[in-house]
Amino acid sequence: MPLFQRLIQRFMYLEKQRKQAGMKRILLLIGTTLFMASIGCKQSPAPAWEGYSINKVAEEKQGMVVCAHPAASQVGTDVLKAGGNAVDAAIAVQFALAVVYPVAGNIGGGGFMVIRQADGHTDALDYREKAPAAAGRDMYLDSTGAVIPGLSLNGHLASGVPGSVDGMLEAFARYSQLKDFNKLIQPAIDLAEQGFHLTERQAKNLNSAQESFIKYNTKKPVFVRDSAWKEGDLLIQPDLAQTLIRIRDQGRDGFYAGKTADLIVAEMQAGHGIITHQDLQDYHAQWRDALVGDYRGYQVITMPPSSSGGVALLQLLESVETFPLADYGFHSTEAVHVMAEAERRVYADRAEHLGDMDFYPVPIEGMIDPAYNQARMKDFDPAHATPSDAISAGTPAAKESEQTTHFSVVDKDGNAVSVTTTINGGYGCKTVVSGAGFLLNNEMDDFSSKPGVPNMFGLVGGEANAIQPGKRMLSSMTPSIVAKDGKLFMVVGSPGGSTIITSVFQMIVDVIDFGMTMDASVQSSRFHHQWKPDFIFLEPDSLPAATMQGLRAMGYELNIRGNIGRVDAILRQPDGTLVGAADTRGDDHAEGY
Ligand code: DON
Repeated sequence: MPLFQRLIQRFMYLEKQRKQAGMKRILLLIGTTLFMASIGCKQSPAPAWEGYSINKVAEEKQGMVVCAHPAASQVGTDVLKAGGNAVDAAIAVQFALAVVYPVAGNIGGGGFMVIRQADGHTDALDYREKAPAAAGRDMYLDSTGAVIPGLSLNGHLASGVPGSVDGMLEAFARYSQLKDFNKLIQPAIDLAEQGFHLTERQAKNLNSAQESFIKYNTKKPVFVRDSAWKEGDLLIQPDLAQTLIRIRDQGRDGFYAGKTADLIVAEMQAGHGIITHQDLQDYHAQWRDALVGDYRGYQVITMPPSSSGGVALLQLLESVETFPLADYGFHSTEAVHVMAEAERRVYADRAEHLGDMDFYPVPIEGMIDPAYNQARMKDFDPAHATPSDAISAGTPAAKESEQTTHFSVVDKDGNAVSVTTTINGGYGCKTVVSGAGFLLNNEMDDFSSKPGVPNMFGLVGGEANAIQPGKRMLSSMTPSIVAKDGKLFMVVGSPGGSTIITSVFQMIVDVIDFGMTMDASVQSSRFHHQWKPDFIFLEPDSLPAATMQGLRAMGYELNIRGNIGRVDAILRQPDGTLVGAADTRGDDHAEGY
């Protein structure tokens, strides 16, 4: 490339970075000068990789996609521009993430899609994985009844029957506007065949998982190589491309039958897994009624079980609604105290009452009844933390008649889709289906392997979430949409295991109570309480020192940990402008038009 062209390209790249970082132009000039000096103003080979230019905030009028990888945001936006609706774009993003975001994007896992159409119609799709038919309540226990460490987390036995492909085909059949499935999956096939460049974070993640990939695979997967991965390396996934082509050409049978199914079952047999052809044939995603609640005049549309997320989110909002959070102030001792106490009570309920409602009578109506949640806060002590041992699950009225990634999409007509999808831990169970090129989930760990024994996220459960053949393991994923006066207001969700629910809770409260912008809310630090262990978890440098002091004085134990959540959200402003906010905790990218 000629030097002049190269300099222009470099300038534009740095200018974009500068805008995102809010840096002064003078720094850009210094950077450009240093760059010129470094190349000695001579023509030298073009750098192979300039890096993605990542938008943390985007404001556009027509459509918006916010997700974990810039290449997938681009795919979704292209579908919107080509006349696809938000569901079309979401399907394309799910498949694109399965290629460019292998740590969590997937066809070997599952997820949830919440839909709100511009006319107010809502729907929810449950494409969560299921326990294989040969799974059993004690499958992760040894002969003494103790949980065998790691068995529900790593390798073949950790995987539930994948739901993502059936989910996308269901969503397509019911809601596609483009009505051309090829157009939605082809970008993913191209990315798998031609490769995509790794971000620095992705290279690091792959390097740190090398040992696990070697340990939990029967054949060396594409993610393993002798030298370390580095930013800009091209990752080409030929086996995955072929699997996606089979899905494109044969639909359901391209995954749940035929060659892909044979490869999955062969992989299971090689690694002592239990998923069979019958399990794959029997898997079907499930349409459910979205849960709808009200918070200070806003309509909150969210996911019912098999996620606990929606029920818990509505419980949290109802628990705090009678408290003047806005007067307390963002991250004030009072606000954090009220929210943490609500979280403590709601997570106690989660452990007792929530599970797959196709198998267990979840008292949903009772749990999301505002009166029930307000009553649960009756023993709230404004001056002291309540020890978790003093809190147990409530007794809601019985039902009378029940490493993840999130993305948000809005199209030009105002249809909105909120999707959270996962293979559970980073790279799932670390096992790639040999010859099919995709990672399997380790979602079985989301079941309660034994009553009272915490899972990877420290969550405990009992009968409601015990393992049973064909049952869906309880999730915390909380894809949600908020509307106001009949119009779309916000699309929101997050990964983060047990912290998903409280992250989404904070986003809604930040914007509605504390008047924060979507971007400020997404980038702000977060806290989390889940009943047990009895801590408030905090991100480093999060709460003001005075708030921390106040909370300690009330009896809270504060536990500083890493990131909490990774939110990708869209806010619709009153003039119709869509503000996409992508979390700086990852490579997440907002793209619109
Ligand atoms: O469904 C769930 O609740 C978990 N499997 C989610 C896992 C997750 O968020 C991991 N990512 N950070």
